[in-house]
Amino acid sequence: MSRVMARHYASLAVPRYTSYPTAADFSPQVGKDQYQTWLRRLRQSEPVSLYLHVPYCRDLCHYCGCHAKIARRETVIEAYAETLIREIRQAGSCLTERPEAVHLHWGGGTPSILGGNGIVRVTNVLQEYYDFSPVMEHAIELDPRTVTQALCDDLARVGVNRVSLGVQDFNADVQRAIGRVQPIIQVEAAVAALEQAGITRLNFDLIYGLPLQTVETLRETCERVAELRPSRIACYGYAHLPARRANQRLIDTSLLPDADARYEQSQIVGETFMAMGYEPVGIDHYALPDDALVIAAKSGQLRRNFQGYTNDDCPTLLGFGASSISQFKEGYTQNIADIGQYKTSVHEERAPVIRGYAFNDSDMLRGLIIEKLMCDFRVDLNEVASGANFSDELALLRPLVADGIVTIHSGIIAMVPEHFALVRVVAAVFDEFRRESAHSFSMAI
Ligand SMILES: C[S@@+](CC[C@H](N)C(=O)[O-])C[C@H]1O[C@@H](n2cnc3c(N)ncnc32)[C@H](O)[C@@H]1O
Ligand code: SF4
Repeated sequence: MSRVMARHYASLAVPRYTSYPTAADFSPQVGKDQYQTWLRRLRQSEPVSLYLHVPYCRDLCHYCGCHAKIARRETVIEAYAETLIREIRQAGSCLTERPEAVHLHWGGGTPSILGGNGIVRVTNVLQEYYDFSPVMEHAIELDPRTVTQALCDDLARVGVNRVSLGVQDFNADVQRAIGRVQPIIQVEAAVAALEQAGITRLNFDLIYGLPLQTVETLRETCERVAELRPSRIACYGYAHLPARRANQRLIDTSLLPDADARYEQSQIVGETFMAMGYEPVGIDHYALPDDALVIAAKSGQLRRNFQGYTNDDCPTLLGFGASSISQFKEGYTQNIADIGQYKTSVHEERAPVIRGYAFNDSDMLRGLIIEKLMCDFRVDLNEVASGANFSDELALLRPLVADGIVTIHSGIIAMVPEHFALVRVVAAVFDEFRRESAHSFSMAI
């Protein structure tokens, strides 16, 4: 396949498939009543994962695309912690049994803005309703600029055993251009404080495609990151959506790498980490060979949920906080994203669910095919969908087969290794909500 064609596929707007259907396809037809019914059906014998969203930061980084808002006053943060606790209690009152929690993840924003005390208080309330497994993975996203030894000690005391650090890039010029000045010594100090507190399972988040980044600066950042030996690394392509994210208008677009440069950057990231002893996991992720994600990927056990790649195979994920998504065996629900409306709903004793989705049989099948493709880069339709008719989808894949992106033999769809990065395009062919765009993939060729 030509380079131009590779770039064409890489530039198509396709979802990241952390769920199927994607959150963009949820509808108001599924709301709080459905949420409460699904909660009531949870059984003690079925473990759950928990997610807590804290949408506040002290300042906004120019590039940030997350659901985050500035909070400077402590009262705002305290009020949010109170609302979270109230929401957890309201949901808890619907439970008829006490499920086991095997995974707990704090995301944001910057969840540590609640402070050690806030995190301990919220976690204690969760424990009233969920039985924390002794092997529970308790993870939190931290901004290295706000990590202190006292915070790390509090986190360790409450059981946090995995931390994701937002690193982005180590180059000083890039850091200035993205409004996030964070010298490498700050990241090294955060790692040392976490290790001192006994938290050694670390993930680093990086971004390529940022202003002023070049293949050379990125290679250097990746080498320095690999020297710090985090067990997992995620390196996402910068998503620039200034029409939706006002803070991104502070990015000087004339400094952004073009499509060719982005493509080269994504290649150099993979090459550098692999040369430094990391193994690729799905797309955009790398991990050390003894990490649970690599082991899961090698044994076909890798999963994908709203937090990305995981070895967590719980069918249920309960999300709390503004914009959080919950996943049940029967479908998804999502909380109100507007923080003020979310708070009002909880304080009026109404579950803050705004929309969702109830699966039918076809969704479940398609979801499984998409997840297998995203995690394993192959799917055997005879195994996961025997008897189902996917002739339309197979026809749509023909141009991608002709371009050498994917092979199809006896119902087995397999990505060609050098084009793993294009797996979302193949997955989108099975997305009933993206039928139109799937047709345009072939028309564009
Ligand atoms: C919630 S933030 C991480 C926690 C913490 N607030 C921090 O910044 O260190 C999650 C990660 O999403 C990634 N991210 C944010 N905005 C992005 C964008 N526009 N494009 C790609 N990745 C982005 C960054 O790598 C960031 O560290
Ligand atoms: S990258 Fe992290 S610290 Fe920066 S604005 Fe986004 S959530 Fe906040």
